Amino acid sequence: MVVVVSGPRSHGRFLGELLASALGVRHVVVDGKRFPDGEVYVRLAGDVGGEDVIVVASTEPPQNDGFVELLLVIDAVWEAGARSVSTFIPYLPYARQDRVFLPGEPVSVRVLLKTLYSMGVGRVAVVEAHSDRALSYFPGEVVNVNPLPYMARRARLAGDVLVVSPDLGGVRRAASVAEALGARSDYIVKRRDRVTGEIEMDLGSLDPRGLDVVIVDDIISTGGTIASAARMLLERGARSVQVLAVHNLNIPGAMDRVRSSGVSRVIVSNTLPQPELEGLEVIDVIPVVAEEVARWVG
Ligand code: R5P
Repeated sequence: MVVVVSGPRSHGRFLGELLASALGVRHVVVDGKRFPDGEVYVRLAGDVGGEDVIVVASTEPPQNDGFVELLLVIDAVWEAGARSVSTFIPYLPYARQDRVFLPGEPVSVRVLLKTLYSMGVGRVAVVEAHSDRALSYFPGEVVNVNPLPYMARRARLAGDVLVVSPDLGGVRRAASVAEALGARSDYIVKRRDRVTGEIEMDLGSLDPRGLDVVIVDDIISTGGTIASAARMLLERGARSVQVLAVHNLNIPGAMDRVRSSGVSRVIVSNTLPQPELEGLEVIDVIPVVAEEVARWVG
């Protein structure tokens, strides 16, 4: 039988409850505490002996702590006699460091995925993992869930919009939304200075005059990418700009930056905990995840 295990972070527990209920399986929680020196303690609060376990990660910032918790929970699950271990990682941290950009750098996401595999994790499900390359480092089975078409429909986005990716790497994501809406898609050329982090954007042949634009992206971190794209599109005559993004890291100042760029609506998923903010709409994407991992339940 399949069992979902989550915790001890509250958002992981919340998502674990949603996933277990969508899959119709048992949910076992994990109790946790912190030692005075900052180390993490976890303890399974239920039985997983002989079960096929899906461990739900909670990797919101500080994501390093969330990842260590995940590793400890995986070890606890094996110790308790699980038959197999898979993980559901709503937001895969370090996915943007999926290659060496400057000499001397590591391939950070590879370290995380190889560590999981070395702990006996056979399957990983992730929501929108930034790049196929990031997931290519996991030697086991990988499920990369694209929730954007579902989110676009749930948010009732209209079909007569122009769907825009703020960079070349996101063209596939924008196209998936455009297809779901029966809309057109295009992209902006973005260049990031790898040393300073500064970004430069160029609309190229994209002409947004008189159009209602939806910017589609995987991550809102500082909000800089979305804000620059929105400002440029509005300056060049777009009638309105809405944003549809999967993961909002909820970094202080990011949403203010996005909203002050003239964006009229921001739609994000619940892969990470979200604040209650006017103009920020949060869509539960666990139904899409459950559909994709339903075959794990058999
Ligand atoms: C970049 O390749 C990603 O797809 C996002 O556009 C980027 O990580 C967003 O970061 P920020 O909000 O800091 O511009």
